[in-house]
Amino acid sequence: MDGWQKKHLLGIKDLSRQEIEIIFELAASFKELSQREVKKAPALRGKTMINLFFESSTRTRTSFELAAKRLSADVLNFSSSSSSLSKGESLEDTIKNLEAYHPDILVIRIGYSECLHNLSRYTLASIVNAGDGNSEHPTQALLDMFTVKEIKGKLDGLSVLIVGDITHSRVARSNIFGFQKFSAHIKVCGPSTLIPYEFDKLGVEISYDFDEAIRDADVIIMLRIQKERQEISFFPSIREYVEKFALTAERIKKIKKDCIIMHPGPVNWDVEISSQLKEELHPLILKQVENGLAIRMAVLYLAGTKKRKYEDIN
Ligand code: CP
Repeated sequence: MDGWQKKHLLGIKDLSRQEIEIIFELAASFKELSQREVKKAPALRGKTMINLFFESSTRTRTSFELAAKRLSADVLNFSSSSSSLSKGESLEDTIKNLEAYHPDILVIRIGYSECLHNLSRYTLASIVNAGDGNSEHPTQALLDMFTVKEIKGKLDGLSVLIVGDITHSRVARSNIFGFQKFSAHIKVCGPSTLIPYEFDKLGVEISYDFDEAIRDADVIIMLRIQKERQEISFFPSIREYVEKFALTAERIKKIKKDCIIMHPGPVNWDVEISSQLKEELHPLILKQVENGLAIRMAVLYLAGTKKRKYEDIN
């Protein structure tokens, strides 16, 4: 694909606006393919993709698997819990063992932030980040932006509000990096204990008042409270969190008429969003999942066109 030079997709931070637009253009054509009677293309025939998920996932893992199959790649799903990692084998040796199968693409989700570039030393495959610690979740941000662009017809200059557990959110970081490439105005909102000081330096506005912040947003991204990454409690009680930061039937009355409300999933209903709003908001959240398949087909297509050569690594 003209204009695409990257071997790996490690983060949105590394992508140019033009590269994001290339992914969107491909995703639109793959979305159209997924609506046909025969949903398969031969683009990755003869290529091998390995899904390595060291953390739980429903949406990302299944959509990468389906995306690779729709593009006719051979797919191997590696499960860390039933692997020799549980017998003490190192991550380095695990990757080196899988490299013995000459894979073309490794899709990796892992709890450690910013370790993927390091892991790329042990394989000639293209690495696609499916979420690394608190760092980045590039395909989630791409599917979020693609969904917004589909609905609003543009990304430039929008006001984007990201709400909740900002500290532990790779989705927040990737969306900030992505939307900023389209000159969006970004505000993050949540308890002060869940917004790191360094976000100041990312060029985003910080708010601790959801009722105020909600009024001028074109897009609201509600984040999941990540209990599994919180070693200590960052707010006094769920009740207090819900009172201040949940999207409720009362609060939703304050949003702009054409505001889009998204959530990366999984949703803790009645924590981030009131279950009274499920009927109204779930269809768009599921549209995000649908678009995730198209985005991941585009990303795998681009990653799969790269040869297994060290010189390509950047
Ligand atoms: N949004 C997201 O990454 O969901 P999963 O954890 O289910 O993949």
